[in-house]
Amino acid sequence: MASEPRQILVTSALPYVNGHIHLGHLVEYLQTDIWVRFQRLRGNDVRFFCADDTHGTATMIRARDEGIEPDVLLAQMSEAHQEDFRAFGVEFDHFGSTHAESNRDLVNEIWAALRAGGHVVERDVTQLFDPEAGVFLADRFVKGECPRCGKDDQYGDNCDNCGATYTPDELGNPKSTLSGSTPENRTAKHLFVRLSDFQDFLDDWTQSDDHVQPEIANWLKGSFLSEPLRDWDISRPAPYFGFEIPDAPGHYFYVWVDAPIGYISATKDWCDEVGESLDHWWRNPDCEIHHFIGKDIAYFHTLFWPAMLQSAGFELPRKVHIHGFLTVNGEKMSKSKGTFINARVYREHLSPDFLRYFYASKLSSAVQDIDLNLEEFTAKVNSDLVGKVVNLASRTARFVEGKALAPYPDDGGLFEAGDAAGEEIAADYEACDYSKAIRTVMALADKANEYVEAKAPWVLRKDPDKADELLEVCTVSLNLFRQITVYLAPVLPGLAQKASALLNAETPRWEDAATPLVGNTVAKFEHLMRRVDPARVEAIVEASQE
Ligand code: MSP
Ligand code: ZN
Repeated sequence: MASEPRQILVTSALPYVNGHIHLGHLVEYLQTDIWVRFQRLRGNDVRFFCADDTHGTATMIRARDEGIEPDVLLAQMSEAHQEDFRAFGVEFDHFGSTHAESNRDLVNEIWAALRAGGHVVERDVTQLFDPEAGVFLADRFVKGECPRCGKDDQYGDNCDNCGATYTPDELGNPKSTLSGSTPENRTAKHLFVRLSDFQDFLDDWTQSDDHVQPEIANWLKGSFLSEPLRDWDISRPAPYFGFEIPDAPGHYFYVWVDAPIGYISATKDWCDEVGESLDHWWRNPDCEIHHFIGKDIAYFHTLFWPAMLQSAGFELPRKVHIHGFLTVNGEKMSKSKGTFINARVYREHLSPDFLRYFYASKLSSAVQDIDLNLEEFTAKVNSDLVGKVVNLASRTARFVEGKALAPYPDDGGLFEAGDAAGEEIAADYEACDYSKAIRTVMALADKANEYVEAKAPWVLRKDPDKADELLEVCTVSLNLFRQITVYLAPVLPGLAQKASALLNAETPRWEDAATPLVGNTVAKFEHLMRRVDPARVEAIVEASQE
C-alpha cells in the first residue's frame, strides 16, 4: 500500500432541486460514496462534496405553481435530498447549494477571468417566448408537430417517434407547456463563451492521462472535437431564476455555468467552517480532483468545465468518472410499471444496505448501463450477504460468546489467501471495478463456508471433549468473517462496524484484513442482517405505481 496518503477531493453531480432522489440517481451517489469510503479506509485524506443544483426556469415555474418563494422550495428540497442521502449512507463533508452567495462570488470570479481572457462574445438570439407566462421557453417547455414525420406532441428539441433533432421554432403548431399559449419569437442579446479558443487545450486534455474513460475520449474526439467547437450560449435574458451577470444587467448566467462551480463553492463553505484554505483543495497540483457523473452530462464536464477551470487558474480534474444509466427489469424506469422508484419509497420497505451491495456487484469502470432486475436483486442479496457472509458469524459466534478468541490456528491457508487477495481487491475498488472486487470477496466467502461446513462446529459443540477444537474453528470462522467485512466495508460500512463490535475490535481499516484477531472477547451475538422479503419488493413497486 502507498505510504504517503493522497489528498483527494471527490464530487458527485449536483442533483436538480426540482425532483426527489430516485434509484437512478443512487447509482451515482452510491458509486461515489463507495469510492470515497474505500479511499478513507486506505488512509487517504479525502473530502466529498455535493450541492443542490438550483437555478433555471424549471425552479421558477415550480415555485410559482406551488405558490411559494423559490428560497422556500430550495430549503425543503435540500432537506429532503440530504435525508435520503443520509439514509443510504452517502456521507458528504458538505452539501451546499448553487444559490449560495459563496457560489455567486466564485461564478463572478470565473466570469471575470473569461472576460479578461477575451473569450466572451455577444450575439442576438431569437427564442420562443410564452406571452402568458412571461418567460422564454427552454426546448422542453415547447411541444408541437415534428418537422420531419409530422407526429404531434413532440418536445422542442427532438422527436420521440422518428428521432429527428431540430430547434423549437421548426415545430409545427408549437404550444407552450406552461400555459398552452402559442409562443412567439423574441430576440434578445445573449453572451457566448468562444470555446474554440480552448480547442487545442481540450484536444489534449481529453485525450491524455486517463482523464476520462477511453470510450468517452473516443466519443469526444469523433464528435465535438472533430470540428471547431461552437460558441457556448451562457446567458439567459430576464426573467430567469439564477445569478445576474454583473456586467450585463437584465441577463442571467445559464444554469450550466454556475452548476459545476457549485463543486468549488461547496468546498469553500466547508473551508470556511473548518478553517481550511480553498486553494489547498482547488489550486494545488498535489490534490487529486475526481468527479463522478452520469453519461448524459459528460460533455458539460469534459468540455465546458475544464475550459472554465483552466481560464480561472483552478486545478483540472484528475479524472471524470462516467457511469451508465439504471434500468429496472431491463427497461427504462417507468412510472406506469412502478419501476420509477424514489429513494424514500425504497427505504420505507427495505434496507439501503441491500441496494448498496447490489449496485456494487454490478458496477464496473465501463460507461455501461446497469440493470436492477428485482428478482436477481432479491436472490443475490439473500444468497451472498445472508447466505455466505453473515452466515460465517451467525453459525459460530453464539458458541463462543464471552470467550476469548484462540491463538490463530492452522486454517489451511485461508486467512493468508484472503490477505493475499487484498491488493487485487483494492486495485479493483480504485479502478471503480466494484463488481470484480465483489466477485473476489465472494470467492473468499465460499472457501470460508466450505471450511465451516467441513468442521461442523454445531456437532463439535455437543462433545465436551471438543471444546478446544470448537473454539479454534470459531476463531477461524469469525476471523474470516471479519476479513471479508473489512473488504466489504466501503460498500457495507455498517456491517463492518457490527463485525468489529462483535469481536471487540477497533473501527476497521484496510490493513486489518492482514492480521487475525487474537485474544479478543466475543461479544453477545446480535442479529446482523435480515433476508430480503420478496413481498417487500412487490410493495415497493406497488407504492411506485402511478
Ligand atoms: N443538475 C445536473 C448535474 C449538474 S452537475 C454540475 C443533473 N442533475 S440530475 O438530478 O438530473 O442528475 C444527477 C446525476 O444523477 C447525474 O450525474 C445523472 O447522470 C445521474 N442520474 C440521473 N438519473 C439516472 C439514472 N436513471 N441512472 C443513472 N444515473 C442517473 O444532471
Ligand atoms: Zn418525427
